[in-house]
Amino acid sequence: MLRIAVIGGDGIGPEVCEQGLRCLGKLAEQYQFEYDTDKLPYGGGRYLADKTVITDEEVAQLKTNYDAIYLGAVGRPDVPPGVLEQGLLLKLRFELDQYINLRPVKLYPGIATPLANRTPDDIDFVVVRENTEDLYCGVGGFLRRGTPHEVATQEMIATRMGVERCLRYAFELSRARGGRRLLTLVAKTNVLTFAHNLWMRAFEEVGADYPDVTREYHHVDACCMYMVSQPQRYDVVVTTNMFGDIITDLGAAIAGGMGIAASGNLNPDGAAPSMFEPVHGSAPDIAGQNKANPLAAILSMAMLLQQTGRMKSADALSQAGDALEAAVASVCPQFAGQPIDRLPMPTAKVTDLVLTKLDR
Ligand code: IPM
Ligand code: MN
Repeated sequence: MLRIAVIGGDGIGPEVCEQGLRCLGKLAEQYQFEYDTDKLPYGGGRYLADKTVITDEEVAQLKTNYDAIYLGAVGRPDVPPGVLEQGLLLKLRFELDQYINLRPVKLYPGIATPLANRTPDDIDFVVVRENTEDLYCGVGGFLRRGTPHEVATQEMIATRMGVERCLRYAFELSRARGGRRLLTLVAKTNVLTFAHNLWMRAFEEVGADYPDVTREYHHVDACCMYMVSQPQRYDVVVTTNMFGDIITDLGAAIAGGMGIAASGNLNPDGAAPSMFEPVHGSAPDIAGQNKANPLAAILSMAMLLQQTGRMKSADALSQAGDALEAAVASVCPQFAGQPIDRLPMPTAKVTDLVLTKLDR
């Protein structure tokens, strides 16, 4: 039994999750697996009602009661910035120790990229973003706040354990992908001479255990340039939490847009559930209008099935995930020449096309 906690969240989150769940329902019949979903009310609506984001008991329940979490989006304009992001999204990433944020950058056939003359062969890599450290730890504070002598600090945390487990995951993935076995570390060792020196030393030391994986190093600024000018340079990229946040928006853009970018917050040890979510935000301007593109959420469902299948050695789940990703890929040519972020087609209609492909 696959137990999924569904946190639709804010804005377009619930409606795009609904579409992923339609695909799940069909796949469960086709691949004969049982599943159960619980829709949980965490997000801005609940916060505005009772000022609670998610309690420690609720996090504990997520940890014990589910195999995976399917998340729509968090954040809304009438809640101050940070409340929902830190109180829900980052809290879950940290407390469920989802130390990998896996973000494929893949141009599906038919999807328009803003890069001239690029084909799906040129844009196909995956970013392994460290997900529990760095500037995201919330370590810092104010001194003399609100005065002309104010001081604000925000610490960049890198632990050897946290960096090493992320690097090992990335080396293993470079092998498992069965491609070029090329792993690029993206950091800024010329300026962040402490934190990223640790990353670099760990990269070389861990890399000694993977002689079959070629190591490259790019500064993050150069990486941004190459992602645009020579995206084919990348196979697997491993990077810090903050840089990973930034370069994966660039990655989503070159792969067609936020409408199709999926991600997984993974606890690869299986000690707590992993969480799958579209990279896009809650898009409150189009919420409830049946305009949101559900493909990113559907691909996140595909990733949920692939990853959960792998972790639980459940072939039916992995196969269902692969079939769903293939169905999305085969629908994409129908969107040729259209901006993927705002398709002139209702949300559910896009899913209908995907479901039709699953039939074959
Ligand atoms: C993302 C988002 C989050 C992040 C925000 C909402 C906290 O931008 O998942 O990339 O910065 O990680
Ligand atoms: Mn982001």
